[in-house]
Amino acid sequence: MRLTGTPSWLNIRRGRSSEAGDDRTLQRGPAPGQIWAIGGGKGGIGKSFLVANLGAVAASLGRRVILIDVDLGAANLHTCLGVRGGTRVNLSDYLEDRVPDLEKAAIQTPIPGLRLILGALGHIGARETTRAQRSELLRAVRALPADLVILDLAAGTERATLDFFLVSDCSLVVTTPEPTAIENAYGFLRASYYRRLGQALGNSGARDLLRVAMDQRNERGIRTPSDLLDEVERLDPREAQGFRRVLQEFRPRLILNQVRSPEEVKMGFSIRSVCRKYFGIDVEYVGYVNFDNAVWRSVKERRPLVLGYPQSDGALYIRRIAKKILEG
Ligand SMILES: Nc1ncnc2c1ncn2[C@@H]1O[C@H](COP(=O)(O)OP(=O)(O)OP(=O)(O)O)[C@@H](O)[C@H]1O
Ligand SMILES: [Mg+2]
Repeated sequence: MRLTGTPSWLNIRRGRSSEAGDDRTLQRGPAPGQIWAIGGGKGGIGKSFLVANLGAVAASLGRRVILIDVDLGAANLHTCLGVRGGTRVNLSDYLEDRVPDLEKAAIQTPIPGLRLILGALGHIGARETTRAQRSELLRAVRALPADLVILDLAAGTERATLDFFLVSDCSLVVTTPEPTAIENAYGFLRASYYRRLGQALGNSGARDLLRVAMDQRNERGIRTPSDLLDEVERLDPREAQGFRRVLQEFRPRLILNQVRSPEEVKMGFSIRSVCRKYFGIDVEYVGYVNFDNAVWRSVKERRPLVLGYPQSDGALYIRRIAKKILEG
């Protein structure tokens, strides 16, 4: 992203981009904006709702924001923003070379400062992207003229979804307090982490170990990243160093959505402890959003909660989370 007069709030981390092959744009020109990605494994937990609202808060603070619906199978972010999808230009036009420049696919929303790249609507099979398409898309996302790009990820742990999550400056995992959602959030974190390791490990023996570890019932008894680290250490101490670096750098952030009680608020801290104990991953709990009836009203009215119901508790919590992340 080419910015003139990059605002001081930008605290850009770009460490992982080179593995994804998208670092060419980063190495020239002024500093780019931030990329956030919101994932979580499960459907219907509020990913798109949060993308729309965090984007609206950032835009209201004067940032130039572009939201991208990278849910290639079931795009619906536009509905949260009051934008009609229909036949308008969308991400598949870019992926299939009908639009040469990704920025040309960014349409204005009714919210000043907030643009949207629609997901691939009405494209059966559009979910399958090639590796080349993905890396080209990531490069193009980095080059967008915006202060902040937020990616709305699909449910599940497809490679494309994990890559978008991993390449972002701020990787946000959303869950609700329900056991099913939490289970999927752990699965999502685990899959992202192993994918990141796979990108980092060079030694083929270490990669074989990683493949074994990915099956949680494996016969070698590798159950956690720390078990895997011990095995890699025995095999190749230099690879183990790279492994430790990945462990340290992998810092996803957690948002708990739809909480209904103080006990549920605390679940964010429990998830953080479990991730540290069993995965060795440091997850930052950036905040929670209460279950709020104003949310479904705002979705029905196709207007972000923070604009339609700015005094609601949900809006308050979202503004708090947005500011926390923006201020680093
Ligand atoms: N904090 C909340 N309070 C009340 N309802 C909520 C809250 N967050 C989300 N919802 C409800 O959950 C619905 C699903 O949210 P959303 O579409 O954002 O989920 P999603 O994770 O993007 O799902 P998908 O993976 O299918 O795209 C919303 O339409 C809204 O009605
Ligand atoms: Mg969604």
